[in-house]
Amino acid sequence: MKKTDRDCIHKTRPGRGLLALAAVIGVLFAGPAAADAKTIATTVCAACHTEDGNSVVPMFPKIAGLQETYIVKQLKDFMSGRRKSDVMGPIVSQLKSEDVAPLATYFSQLKMKPGEPDDKKIVGLGKMIFHDGNEETGVPACVGCHQAQGAGYDIYPRIGGQHIEYVKTQLKNFAAGDRSNDVSRFMRVTAKRLSEAEINAVAQYLSSLGAK
Ligand code: HEC
Ligand code: HEC
Repeated sequence: MKKTDRDCIHKTRPGRGLLALAAVIGVLFAGPAAADAKTIATTVCAACHTEDGNSVVPMFPKIAGLQETYIVKQLKDFMSGRRKSDVMGPIVSQLKSEDVAPLATYFSQLKMKPGEPDDKKIVGLGKMIFHDGNEETGVPACVGCHQAQGAGYDIYPRIGGQHIEYVKTQLKNFAAGDRSNDVSRFMRVTAKRLSEAEINAVAQYLSSLGAK
C-alpha cells in the first residue's frame, strides 16, 4: 500500500487504524487465494463509504444500492483514468480486475438510505427539474433516464437519496467537462444547461428520495 492510503485509513478510522491496516495488507497481499468482496469492502472501502455503503461524509458518495452495471463501469473508469479522482485512483490501483464484479454485486445489494434536504424552500424547483426538465433551456427531465424516485436502472445510476454535496459536485464536474466518462455525453450536455440555482435545487430534491 502507498503511504497516502495508509494515512487515509488511519485518519478515517481512529482507534481501529492499526487493525484496519493489518487487515488491508493481509487482503491486498493475499496472493492466489483472493480475498472475497466482503472482506475488501469492510476493510478497504468501509473507511470512506462505511460498511453498509451509506457514507456519512457528504463528499464521499453513498454507494449502497447503486446499479451493479454502473459500479462495474465506474471502477473500470477509475482504473483506466477515464474518470479522474485523486482519492479513488490510488485505491483501485490496488485492486485486481477480478475483484471488480464481486465488489459491484456486494454494494449493489445493500440499501441506499435517503437523507434530508437542508434548504426546503428550493425543493419545489428541484422537483420540477427532475420531472419536467426546463423546456426553455433544453434541460431534459432527469426522471426519463434515472427513473421514478431516482432509483436508476442499468447504466443509469440511482441518484435518489444521494448526498447533496456530492450530487452538486458531480453536476458541476460534468458541466465543466472535468468528469467526462458519461456514455453519449448524456450528463455533460444536461449539466451544462442547468443553472447554479437549478443544480442546487435538484440536489436538494434528490436527497430525500427513495425508501425510508
Ligand atoms: C479514502 C476514501 C475512499 C475509499 C477508501 C474508497 N472510496 Fe470510493 N470514492 C471516494 C470518493 C471521494 C469518491 C468520489 C470520487 C469523485 O468523483 O470525485 C468515490 C467514488 C466511488 C464510486 C463511484 C460512486 C458514484 O456514485 O459514481 C464507487 C463505485 C466507489 N467509490 C467504490 C469504492 C470501492 C469499491 C472501494 C473499496 C475498494 C472504495 N470506493 C474505497 C472515496 C473513497
Ligand atoms: C439521457 C439520459 C440522462 C438524463 C436525461 C439525465 N441523466 Fe444523469 N446520468 C445518466 C447516465 C448514463 C449517468 C452515468 C454516467 C457514467 O457512466 O458515469 C448519469 C449520471 C448522473 C449523476 C452522477 C451520479 C453518481 O453517482 O456519480 C448525477 C448526479 C446525475 N446523473 C444527475 C442527473 C440530473 C439531476 C438530471 C436531470 C437534470 C439527469 N441526471 C438527467 C443519464 C442521464
